[in-house]
Amino acid sequence: MGTMDQDILRVLYTQEEIAARIKVLGEEMYADLREKDPLFISVLRGAFIFMADIVRSCPVKSDVEFIAVSSYGNAMSSSGAVQITRDIQQDITGRHLVVIEDILDSGNTLSYLKQYFLAKGAAEVSICTLLDKPSRRTKAIQANYTGFTVPDEFVVGYGLDYCQKYRNLPYIGVLKPEVYGGE
Ligand code: IMP
Ligand code: MG
Repeated sequence: MGTMDQDILRVLYTQEEIAARIKVLGEEMYADLREKDPLFISVLRGAFIFMADIVRSCPVKSDVEFIAVSSYGNAMSSSGAVQITRDIQQDITGRHLVVIEDILDSGNTLSYLKQYFLAKGAAEVSICTLLDKPSRRTKAIQANYTGFTVPDEFVVGYGLDYCQKYRNLPYIGVLKPEVYGGE
């Protein structure tokens, strides 16, 4: 089987770099959200680790929710057809939502979710993404809060997967192309 580390071409962000960035990002969000009674909604499964860290670095009175989506792409990208496989469990009418996502890639997932939440009556929907890959965007959507802007390479770790693996790597790294059958 080999170890997870052996499948990584190079480390993009170490555990320490991620923690330092999230501390600053959380402070920035706190300044904006302190009066807003926000509801943090994590997109499963990729954002589960980021969610746990960002809500603790943004000590605003708030509550948390989880939504799961599938997007019928292949293992490395999503398609346009987003489907909710587990919905949130509460009324969001008039609430200020902050959607917590692992990576903003084509924008399919987040543009779908933003419309969905607004249609359900949310007052405002902000987006907080750990990673942004703007070079791949096909939908006109931007994050309000971004951890790191990354080049167009497939990354794993800190919640991000390839075929459901590598989510528990404590750092973010680029996967070796031979792992996914690339050159
Ligand atoms: P979008 O809908 O194309 O913006 O894609 C967002 C989803 O695609 C993320 O939530 C990830 O699950 C997945 N994704 C996109 N790029 C990567 C990557 O580099 N590594 C792991 N997952 C990715
Ligand atoms: Mg994924």
